[in-house]
Amino acid sequence: ETSLPRAENILLIGLMGSGKSTVGRMVAHMLGFQFVDTDHLIIEQAGCSIPEIFAREGEAGFRQRESTVLRHLLGCRHCVIATGGGIITQPKNLPLLQHLGFITWLEADAKLLARRTATNNDRPLLRGEEPPLVKLERLLTERKPIYKQLADLRIQTDELSQQESAYGVAESA
Ligand code: S3P
Repeated sequence: ETSLPRAENILLIGLMGSGKSTVGRMVAHMLGFQFVDTDHLIIEQAGCSIPEIFAREGEAGFRQRESTVLRHLLGCRHCVIATGGGIITQPKNLPLLQHLGFITWLEADAKLLARRTATNNDRPLLRGEEPPLVKLERLLTERKPIYKQLADLRIQTDELSQQESAYGVAESA
């Protein structure tokens, strides 16, 4: 627990395909905030793609990079921060996320997430032996309690357009 006042950012959490980057960009545009994406910062810093990081350093290496990037964001003000879906798997990240700002969980059904992530290949966790839908269902079960506990706001996005989700975030933050 930190006793520091919360920094004035908006954070988006949720599984892969929940729309954090797209919705986050829209929210940033609506509020005149800067948009930041932890996956992109990791890619920039590493100089290679996420699948390459996973191949070379394993998931553990990626998680380490993710925590480093998160610590570097502590100076941000008036940013919309889209986070990688697994950023909440490391307990040490949780107080940092809470300190950074107002946390919105973009919730979506596993089937929808599977559909939204089907077309791109840059998520190594969905390229294992398990079919993507099964993997996403398992990750949802594992992570849901953490997303829930952390979220100041929860938006069920299944029936919403990304524009509508963005309004939801921008209005409540
Ligand atoms: C991951 C989600 C990805 C990326 C990495 C691992 C996860 O980010 O950080 O592939 O563990 O859920 P997105 O949620 O932006 O796809």
